[in-house]
Amino acid sequence: MARASKKTARGRGAPRLAKVGLATVGLAKVAPGELVTLLDLVRYAVSRFVEAELAFAHGTTDPVAEAAFLVSEALHLNPEQFELFANARVTLAEGKTVLDLIHQRVTTRKPAAYLVNKIYMRGLPFYVDERVIVPRSFIGELLDSHFGGHGTAGSLIDDPTAVERVLDLCTGSGCLAILAAHHFPNATVDAVDISKGAIEVAARNVGEYGLENRISLYRGDLFAPLGDARYDLIITNPPYVDAEGMAALPPECRAEPKLAFDGGADGLDVVRRILREAPDHLMPDGGLVCEIGRGRGLVDEAFPELPLLWLDTEDSEGEVFWIAAADLG
Ligand SMILES: C[S@@+](CC[C@H](N)C(=O)[O-])C[C@H]1O[C@@H](n2cnc3c(N)ncnc32)[C@H](O)[C@@H]1O
Repeated sequence: MARASKKTARGRGAPRLAKVGLATVGLAKVAPGELVTLLDLVRYAVSRFVEAELAFAHGTTDPVAEAAFLVSEALHLNPEQFELFANARVTLAEGKTVLDLIHQRVTTRKPAAYLVNKIYMRGLPFYVDERVIVPRSFIGELLDSHFGGHGTAGSLIDDPTAVERVLDLCTGSGCLAILAAHHFPNATVDAVDISKGAIEVAARNVGEYGLENRISLYRGDLFAPLGDARYDLIITNPPYVDAEGMAALPPECRAEPKLAFDGGADGLDVVRRILREAPDHLMPDGGLVCEIGRGRGLVDEAFPELPLLWLDTEDSEGEVFWIAAADLG
C-alpha cells in the first residue's frame, strides 16, 4: 500500500493515521497502512529484531516466535491462536500498538514478557514485571514428564495424588508453586523468596489462580521462614549463574533482578546451602528437584558422594537433578 502523502495525512481521518507514522514509531520507515496483517507485522518485527541482534531467552528462542508472541499479546490473542488469525487485517490503532511494542523491544532490550506483563509456562499465563525473573525453568516440564503425569513409566513419584506437602524454594513469580499445585491436586504448597517484590508478584499470580487456600507464600532466606516443616517434595530453581556468566549476561537478562541469577563466584553458593539444609526439611521418602544450569560438572565434583539423578527435558541436558531424601543423608 502506498505511503500516505502529507496532503493525504491532513485530510479526512488524518490525525489518527499520522500518529502511526515515523514520528511516533521512531523505527525504520513504516508508513500508516503499509503493514496490513498480523503476518506483515510479524515479518517486520523479525527484521527489526534480527537487525538489533536481540537475545531470545525468555519463553521464545528465535525472532519469529518472539514476534508472534508480541503481536498476539498486543492483540489479546493467545499465541497458540496466531496461525488462525495470521492473515487477518489489523486496525490502524492496533498497528500502532504493535509497532510501539516492537520499538520498545528493540530500544529498551527488555524481555517481551515485561512489555506485555505476561508469560506462558506449560500453556498457563502468569503475570510478570521487573520484580521477578521471566519464568523459564525446566522444572515445569519435568513435573509432567517425571512426576507421574499421564501415567509416565519410571516416575520419580508413585502417585501424584498422594503428595501432601510441596515446597517451592526461590519461587519468584510463583509459577512453579502454581504448576505444582495443579500437578499434585491434594497437596498444600509453601513457597519462599527473599525478595519482597517477588512475593508481591507471586501473591498476585496465586490470587489469579484462586489458590490462596493451597499456596502459602513466605518472604525469607531459603528454609529460614519454615521452622521445622518437612515436605514430600522440594522443587527449586535457585540463582546459579557464576561470576563469569554474570559479567556476560545479555541486556535482556540485565533487565531482570540480579538476585535471581547471582550464585556467587562458581554459581553454587545457594545450591550448596540447599543441599546442606534440605535433609532437615524432607520426609523420609521425599526428594529434592533442583535446577542448576550448566554447572553439572562442578556439582558432581563438589558432591561426589551424592547419587544425583540428572533429568533431561526437550531443551536441556543435565541441568536439573533429583535426589531422594534417603540419599541426601
Ligand atoms: C532463578 S529465580 C527463580 C524464580 C522462579 N522459581 C522461576 O523458576 O521462574 C531465583 C529466585 O530466588 C530468589 N532468591 C535468591 N536468593 C534467595 C534466598 N537466599 N532465599 C530465598 N530466595 C532467594 C530470587 O529473588 C529469585 O526470585
